[in-house]
Amino acid sequence: MSHLGKIQVDGLTKVFIKNKERVMALENIDFSIKDGEFVCILGPSGCGKTTLLRILAGLEKPSSGEFNIQSSESARHPLQSMVFQEQGVIPWMTVEENVALGLRMRHAPKKVINDRTNHYLEKVGLSKYKNLYPKELSGGMKQRVSIARAFANDPEILLMDEPFAALDEQNKFILQEELLAIWEETKRQ
Ligand SMILES: Nc1ncnc2c1ncn2[C@@H]1O[C@H](COP(=O)(O)OP(=O)(O)OP(=O)(O)O)[C@@H](O)[C@H]1O
Ligand SMILES: [Mg+2]
Repeated sequence: MSHLGKIQVDGLTKVFIKNKERVMALENIDFSIKDGEFVCILGPSGCGKTTLLRILAGLEKPSSGEFNIQSSESARHPLQSMVFQEQGVIPWMTVEENVALGLRMRHAPKKVINDRTNHYLEKVGLSKYKNLYPKELSGGMKQRVSIARAFANDPEILLMDEPFAALDEQNKFILQEELLAIWEETKRQ
């Protein structure tokens, strides 16, 4: 297997067994993504987009084939963070606690947790709402919480599964622009 890309995928195949039938979710997928690239995967419902991301996130094992995520010299942790297709916020945690979750779980120093959490809350426009609970937020605000958490984690790669699917056109557009602006600024590498 070559190691040309930041993410190198070779012959990735995933077969699910559903009601005793084989479902070929991914068949012999190859691709390579370079450091600093922003890549979108397009395809109809059921073509395997979520399955591919779940494999890259380590949540699912491929049936065959392999993938490699090259870590940088600074070996940032975590390697990858995922923004899920469905709502990924924890209902009993405040906005601030949700954004800080990944950092807390990794026992980051308190100052790092506070600084990064505040920075990304500001970036997604939720500073004012940091003490609210998810049930008090709109769909778009909840997606902003998920995005802020993913960036605050400072992962090597950021995996996002249709992060704006549940939003109306206007909010989708606004959040897409915001995401690109944050990404430009952070330059995920
Ligand atoms: N855990 C599972 N068990 C059985 N089949 C599954 C499982 N997860 C996914 N599949 C099947 O694998 C195929 C790919 O599903 P996947 O969720 O990856 O598609 P998708 O491209 O993300 O679709 P969408 O655009 O609707 O989100 C589908 O046929 C789906 O039914
Ligand atoms: Mg999907």
